[in-house]
Amino acid sequence: MNEIKDIYQSLDRNKVVKIQAPATVANMVCGFDVLGFAVNEPYDEMQIRFSDTAGITIINDDEYNLPTEPEKNVAGAALLAMMEEMEENFGFEMTIRKNIKPGSGVGSSAASAAGAVVAANRLLNDRFDNETLVRFAMNGEKLASGVKHADNIAPCIYGGVTLIRSIFPLDIIALNAPTLYVTIVHPQIEVRTADARSILKQKVLLKDAIKQWGNIAGLVAGLLKSDYELIGRSLEDVLIEPVRSILIPGFDLIKQKSKEAGALGGGISGSGPSIFMLSRDEATAKNVEKEMHIIYEQLGLDHHTYVTTVNHSGVRFV
Ligand code: HSE
Repeated sequence: MNEIKDIYQSLDRNKVVKIQAPATVANMVCGFDVLGFAVNEPYDEMQIRFSDTAGITIINDDEYNLPTEPEKNVAGAALLAMMEEMEENFGFEMTIRKNIKPGSGVGSSAASAAGAVVAANRLLNDRFDNETLVRFAMNGEKLASGVKHADNIAPCIYGGVTLIRSIFPLDIIALNAPTLYVTIVHPQIEVRTADARSILKQKVLLKDAIKQWGNIAGLVAGLLKSDYELIGRSLEDVLIEPVRSILIPGFDLIKQKSKEAGALGGGISGSGPSIFMLSRDEATAKNVEKEMHIIYEQLGLDHHTYVTTVNHSGVRFV
């Protein structure tokens, strides 16, 4: 206890921490709720400082009009969970600029929740370890989607590709991965994670489960061995994608044309509506982007694309 008192006494009460919290691609096609990776773009920007007022003050510096009451805001919910485990009543003021559109399927809520706890932890001289931060941040995910899951939070905090073997208790494994380029297309429709979860079947056939775990194991082995062919053929989802893809216009065509353009494979990013594709090199990733543009232009659907790479650092201090 004395040790903690010393830590708190040594804090710089005037410190300001600025971070960038990256977007993340959860599931990685076959690994529903257990695999995810961080990307270098887009990212949210946040700033946090101690405040003289007790509790959490949230300032939104964007157009999304998200709630500023801490218990209704995913960043606030994550920070509240952290504060419950602190021995002193600090006040925090947090300014959030979201560049990751809520409901886009690339971990917008996770970026807010993870960013908040990583930034606050730096104010506290890194009192909590990464696994504990994931535990706090999952409270934000619970608020956003109704359930705790860590396949966006963990890669956002750890960077790279992460395997969440279990969330109760937490068991997170950071996986080595070869260079991968990521093309993301975000059709401008909103899919709420809670809705995209509610349509899933609760029972699966054994033959489908066998295929799925073969693919998850294949994908993990492919990443660790830098075997691009194995990664490509493991990017198959027989459980979730057949149900959720009906929510995403042009999904099958985008997948087909992206593969014809040289992508290793890909699928729904998180709960959608964004779609992601992995490629070995930037030129291929850009050709994939062109195909995505063509398809959504033909469908007359407004969309944003990103060509980026796997982010290996997680939340960045700036
Ligand atoms: N694994 C979660 C889901 C991610 O697919 O519902 C949500 O971003």
